Amino acid sequence: MPVALIVDDEARALSAMTELVEKEGFSAISAGTLAEARGRLAQTRPDVVLVDLMLPDGNGLELFQEMEPAQRPEVILMTGFASVDSAVAALRTGVLDYLTKPVDIRRLKTVLANVSRTLALKEEIGSLRDELRELGRFGRLIGNSTVMQKVYDLVVKVAPTDATVLLVGESGTGKEEVAATIHELGRRRSQPFLPVNCGAVPANLIESELFGHERGSFTGATQLHRGYFERVSRGTLFLDEITEMPLELQVKLLRVLETGTLLRVGGDEAFPVDVRVIAASNRSPEAAVKEGKFREDLLYRLNVFPIVLPPLRDRNGDIDLLAEHFLGQINREEGTSKKFSSAARRRMAAYSWPGNVRELKNMIRRAFILSDDMIEMDALPTGPSTPAPAGASSNPDSMQVGMSLADIERHFILATLEHYGGDKRKAAEVLGISLKTIYNRLNNYSAAV
Ligand SMILES: Nc1ncnc2c1ncn2[C@@H]1O[C@H](COP(=O)(O)OP(=O)(O)OP(=O)(O)O)[C@@H](O)[C@H]1O
Ligand SMILES: [Mg+2]
Repeated sequence: MPVALIVDDEARALSAMTELVEKEGFSAISAGTLAEARGRLAQTRPDVVLVDLMLPDGNGLELFQEMEPAQRPEVILMTGFASVDSAVAALRTGVLDYLTKPVDIRRLKTVLANVSRTLALKEEIGSLRDELRELGRFGRLIGNSTVMQKVYDLVVKVAPTDATVLLVGESGTGKEEVAATIHELGRRRSQPFLPVNCGAVPANLIESELFGHERGSFTGATQLHRGYFERVSRGTLFLDEITEMPLELQVKLLRVLETGTLLRVGGDEAFPVDVRVIAASNRSPEAAVKEGKFREDLLYRLNVFPIVLPPLRDRNGDIDLLAEHFLGQINREEGTSKKFSSAARRRMAAYSWPGNVRELKNMIRRAFILSDDMIEMDALPTGPSTPAPAGASSNPDSMQVGMSLADIERHFILATLEHYGGDKRKAAEVLGISLKTIYNRLNNYSAAV
């Protein structure tokens, strides 16, 4: 049974709270002053502390500040209306929630349910860590290289909060996979997770797709339309390719993030929306700011919690784990037991993987089809691969007579993308194809899996 410590100097409030908290399945201990609470905390480690903001010997927040962040129980402040502002400010420092006095029973129930959920999530995260140690995977994410462990640490910290997250990493490094993990480990997990590719929605549609529009707001707007922000209410919106969003919409997005309210196109009244935003970019957002394509204030706002995903070539040991995982998956689907030859393992370890995990997954799928029991991966270069040289013709090593034109095209598209830091618009320009074609090709590469 989880333990709650209730700290209040009013005896009547204290006994009423104790009763309510016990009804919600907690075992309750109590204290009337800060000093007494400190004494309790020295003896037991409660799961949650409900503390009055104003106590005879000080401010309830002091109790929170004194505790080691790593060992701190969840803290809920109780306060009179007069000091709601300071309670709200405390939320930013890690206090779980606050209750106004006299405490509303329904509110208390919700808050305590949140505590239980947070405790359950923490337990789950703990068991994910054990799994990582034993199996080299963190939930749906395969890999236990040191660089990925740092990513998991950040995921664990940010998942239970509502903080906006910015994921940056080359194409195919797993940004969407990480975004989904953050959603699943958070309190919004039972609500929808909606990925939107800001680069793939035509510029003239994206505003009403994201924010919705009122009936009659423009020619053809025959009906009220609810945008992604409204449709994903209480869930998580994954804004992929955020630097591709038109500048004027970036202003609008910033306003939603800052005010928590939304104005539909053609609307005249903003209303509250409850959405967590996770954004991603496969090019450096700082560089996009320098080029004038991305607003600095939006970057600043999104960058509350940045997570950088390492390219596969920097993830020591993970290539092997991922390769085994993908091959195992296909073997199970097909009822086969194909294996990699040792030359195939060497080739995979030496290759530079410009398309990262996605490219690895696709290559294995293709090699699986082409080989008998032993998988050779002989489409990969044999020698140690060198980092991509300057110029769009990078990776000539991987071009060999015998490759299909489709493979050569794929190599060139991925290498060009890599060269331009994932900037699809730039890559399309250089290759002389449309942005849409790039998107279609990339989609095909992942659909092949
Ligand atoms: N750590 C991982 N474990 C297992 N599968 C992974 C991992 N990382 C990526 N993948 C797989 O690799 C593919 C690409 O991942 P994802 O779509 O998340 O990349 P991305 O960074 O969003 O790429 P892009 O910038 O092109 O959108 C997906 O099929 C995904 O399931
Ligand atoms: Mg993606």
